[in-house]
Amino acid sequence: MESILTTPDGLNFTTGEAILELSYLIAAILFVIGLKLLSHPETARKGNLWAATGMLMAIITTLLLHKDPEGNHISLTNGIVVVAAIVAAGIIGWVIAKKVKMTAMPQLVSFFNATGGAASALVAFLELPFVSGTGVVIVTLAGLTLGSISFSGSMIAYGKLDGKVGDIRAPYMKYVNILLLIALLALIVLISSGTIGSEAPQLIAAVLLGLALVYGVLFVMPIGGADMPVVISLLNSFTGIAAAMAGVIYNNQAMILGGILVGAAGTILTILMCRAMNRSLVNVIIGAFGGGGGAAGDREQGAIKEISVGDASILLAYSRKVVIVPGYGLAVAQAQHIVSELDELLTEKGVEVKYAIHPVAGRMPGHMNVLLAEADVPYDKLVEMADINPTLPNTDVVIVVGANDVVNPAAENDPSSPIYGMPIIKAHTAKNIIVMKRGMGKGYAGIENFLFFNDKTRMLFGNARDSIQKLVTEIKSH
Ligand code: TAP
Repeated sequence: MESILTTPDGLNFTTGEAILELSYLIAAILFVIGLKLLSHPETARKGNLWAATGMLMAIITTLLLHKDPEGNHISLTNGIVVVAAIVAAGIIGWVIAKKVKMTAMPQLVSFFNATGGAASALVAFLELPFVSGTGVVIVTLAGLTLGSISFSGSMIAYGKLDGKVGDIRAPYMKYVNILLLIALLALIVLISSGTIGSEAPQLIAAVLLGLALVYGVLFVMPIGGADMPVVISLLNSFTGIAAAMAGVIYNNQAMILGGILVGAAGTILTILMCRAMNRSLVNVIIGAFGGGGGAAGDREQGAIKEISVGDASILLAYSRKVVIVPGYGLAVAQAQHIVSELDELLTEKGVEVKYAIHPVAGRMPGHMNVLLAEADVPYDKLVEMADINPTLPNTDVVIVVGANDVVNPAAENDPSSPIYGMPIIKAHTAKNIIVMKRGMGKGYAGIENFLFFNDKTRMLFGNARDSIQKLVTEIKSH
């Protein structure tokens, strides 16, 4: 028999309920600590563990102590089903995460985000017939919609990052998307006001779910070029908000707080990404950007000049200031450790070495920071775009390691380019530029880069890791 406790203002609760609520509070605190630790590559692993511990605790206490409105605990059968699902999904997730290559990590993150959206949408879909009160109905419908958009949108983003899905653009898509958005909002209003759906709530919820899924696909489909980062973080915030809304349905504090944290982090990231790409969020939501001509390919190109490993090593060893610009190719080549070795070697020779970090270099937020931290590059050597750009005219050599779009001057001087307006690392302003890439392959935006044809640029073709290894060997032999 559980003892009943009473607060001074007459609120009754059992010891079990008190422990459950307390465990949710502790879980929320662990999420916050985890999030804080996640903000730095060196502590990120610990942050994940703290947050996971909070989640595990919330799951265990819910299974043991949660009661339905009639006062019944979760039945043994339901408990077994939940635990079996967690174990099976945990094993699948573990194996996938272990096997995935570092370069495929962004796709995996998108896929996991999709599953979060799907889970929240399903909760809302199944609970809709049982919720009451206009406020909770609106929240349930909004969770259903956002979760579904996040699911289908993230699956398309997954396909795009994996190179399996291309961009589909048509001028009328913008209007289709606006119409769909209006239809979704209208449905939410009509259902929550009781105008439609009270006879067959599941049927009308299925219509809403279907429309939201279609909207998710159509809204991500036209977004291409260099604009994906904004969409990915926006979808991330959708999943968080949808999870918080699912938490409202169950009046579960841990779910609400966890969802709010993810939603808020995703929203802040979306704003930062919008700034980094110089885009407005309204354009993202109606899926209107990413188009454009990209007529740059028709312009006079000029000649490509190559540099030998020997000449590059002399140029670097006799420089005063060198800036390394890492990009997606650094991740593909897994060149972070050898870059760090080159950095140490040059630093020993009295060269000042810094890294220029573009906010959307690579394929996920903070991609370059994580890679370089893995290779123990001191964090103070990583300089953000806005701070490094003014120093580049005084830099003897900029080494572009597998970066392309983030150093493309078309963003500044070609209004017809799809990346026009995106802030870039102004590598072209340095005294000398060495570009390391395998060939003349394009970047994520799929456009020509005139930096490679610049008079001051010399290309060192090959896998970045091999090229830098050869450079290191050559410099050591001086
Ligand atoms: P990209 O523009 O994608 O260019 C990468 C370059 O690396 C390619 O041109 C490729 O040329 C080269 N490369 C590939 N493998 C290589 C290897 N093994 N060794 C040497 N070079 C190699 O990269 P970026 O400059 O980092 O720009 C990122 C792009 O991705 C932006 O357009 C951004 O908007 C987009 N994006 C970013 C994110 C986030 S959140 N960061 C998410 C989605 C999309 P070769 O084939 O000739 O070697």
